[in-house]
Amino acid sequence: MAHADLATGTAGDLPSDLRVLIGEERDLIANCANAAALLWHRVPGLNWAGFYLLRDGELVLGPFQGKPACSRIALSRGVCGAAASTCSTVNVPDVSQFPGHIACDAASRSELVVPLVRDGTLLGVLDLDSPNLARFDSETIRIAEAVAALVASRCQP
Ligand code: SME
Repeated sequence: MAHADLATGTAGDLPSDLRVLIGEERDLIANCANAAALLWHRVPGLNWAGFYLLRDGELVLGPFQGKPACSRIALSRGVCGAAASTCSTVNVPDVSQFPGHIACDAASRSELVVPLVRDGTLLGVLDLDSPNLARFDSETIRIAEAVAALVASRCQP
């Protein structure tokens, strides 16, 4: 199967298809880029899908799909900072109710951020935004957490 063919298929099959797409690749940026592309094409109702990577104590914009976004986020700020600083998934059904939400795209209504953790070390976060309120159900959270775990586990230490 050609790599581009993996853009089609169901969201539920995404983690296993991403495993195939990653193959033996161990470069974090390359694998984040393909993960963002798969999420963008397979998960309906997104207006942004991508990664922020931990660099010198702050989150720096990584591979993504969607409109241009802020380049740097402090760990004390936004939904991304909340997920990174607690090393836990943060699901925000209504971003207007989240104090400190950073509105990179005014169209965003709900947001899901999942930390990338490898051997107990935070590498960054996976961030999904939606123009729909309460977009992120348990199935989408399962997919996003599987993608984050896969990307984190397959990068070089
Ligand atoms: N909304 C995020 C900022 C990143 S953008 O959504 C791409 C936040 O509050 O951390």
